[in-house]
Amino acid sequence: MFDFSRLRRFPDVEAPNLQAWDATDELLVQWALEAGVPGSEIAVIGDEYGAITLALSDAGLSGIRVHQDLVTGRRALVNNARALGSSGWQSHELDETLLAGARVVLVQLPKSLAALEEIADAVARWAASDAVLVAGGRVKHMTLAQNDVLARHFAAVQPQRAARKSRLLVASAPTHPAEKPLPAPETSRHVISHPGSGFSRGEGEASLEFVLCAYGGAFAGAKLDIGTRALLDAMPALASGSSAVAARPMVVDLGCGTGALAVAFALQHPPATIIATDRSAAAVRSTRATVAANDLQDRITVTLDDAGSDLGDGSADLVLLNPPFHLGASVHEGAGHRLIEAAARLTREGGEVWTVFNSHLDHRRVLTREVGPTEQITRTSKFTVTRSIKRA
Ligand SMILES: C[S@@+](CC[C@H](N)C(=O)[O-])C[C@H]1O[C@@H](n2cnc3c(N)ncnc32)[C@H](O)[C@@H]1O
Repeated sequence: MFDFSRLRRFPDVEAPNLQAWDATDELLVQWALEAGVPGSEIAVIGDEYGAITLALSDAGLSGIRVHQDLVTGRRALVNNARALGSSGWQSHELDETLLAGARVVLVQLPKSLAALEEIADAVARWAASDAVLVAGGRVKHMTLAQNDVLARHFAAVQPQRAARKSRLLVASAPTHPAEKPLPAPETSRHVISHPGSGFSRGEGEASLEFVLCAYGGAFAGAKLDIGTRALLDAMPALASGSSAVAARPMVVDLGCGTGALAVAFALQHPPATIIATDRSAAAVRSTRATVAANDLQDRITVTLDDAGSDLGDGSADLVLLNPPFHLGASVHEGAGHRLIEAAARLTREGGEVWTVFNSHLDHRRVLTREVGPTEQITRTSKFTVTRSIKRA
């Protein structure tokens, strides 16, 4: 019997109430072992910290293919595999190489329906014609809309009996061929007005316009999140009151989602060079599409990374930060604190960190401690925007 308790989430946030596996992982593993297919015909999607892949490897299966959206999960799988001495698996993007010839595809249900749609499309498109997709989740997070998404890509969708508060959905008989055009990202055009700063709506007046593109589960889809909007609205203050943007700033959009902050900043500050970085592969794909749609490829570089770990200390004049609030399905401040610590590391002395966060969070204190003196730029009952200056 595989000992799931040996698994760690590191480098993702670790805390006593956060685990590296759940009962859904165990049900998916049990289902695959009972199906008796070889490891080379199994693909795993959404294996958060590697629990499914490593338990199947431990049972003697090899050649398992796995896709994880988050680079933190990918690194955790590598670390856990090293600790267990396991090597019978390969990591892939969500593409044909992951799925070709796969007959059992095990899926930890993603939070968003758009992400599930993308997964179901990929499995129906590229896996074997007799492939079975087995998707599991915690019962309290499951909705009938998930069955509807699966039913768009599979002729049969069978919910299984719940066990230990988790449930599996078994989808079989994929319904569409590989020739169907690949799904395009969701796109949406946004117009931002900044009264009092030269950006205002109306005839003949300047405004900031850009397109957002979103694949799968990228944050807020192609919509503009209200927290993001609050930071965009503060950008005029950023332009006029900040020494960090005076010359040709090197800017980091830390946790870029669909790239809204990077693109808006690039359009407002033509000399700036920007690195937009996120730990989610869907976010990175979305930001790349956003950057291309706004013709900013020569100014914005997009990277898949955990908290900017590939970027040098003090390499940024300015960091734009809209930190995550939820961590998976649980609410945890650790994820936000981690990005604040990263922002402090990345910013040069005298450089600035501009942050938007839910007003009830204690981020201003953490920003002051980690980065330096922090002033409030705007505050509503929901969102606070702050500017922190990196202390020497
Ligand atoms: C609240 S969203 C903000 C997205 C975008 N900046 C905006 O304002 O619309 C937070 C983003 O941070 C990313 N994120 C969370 N933890 C991260 C980490 N450790 N490293 C990089 N990105 C992370 C999430 O994937 C998500 O896209």
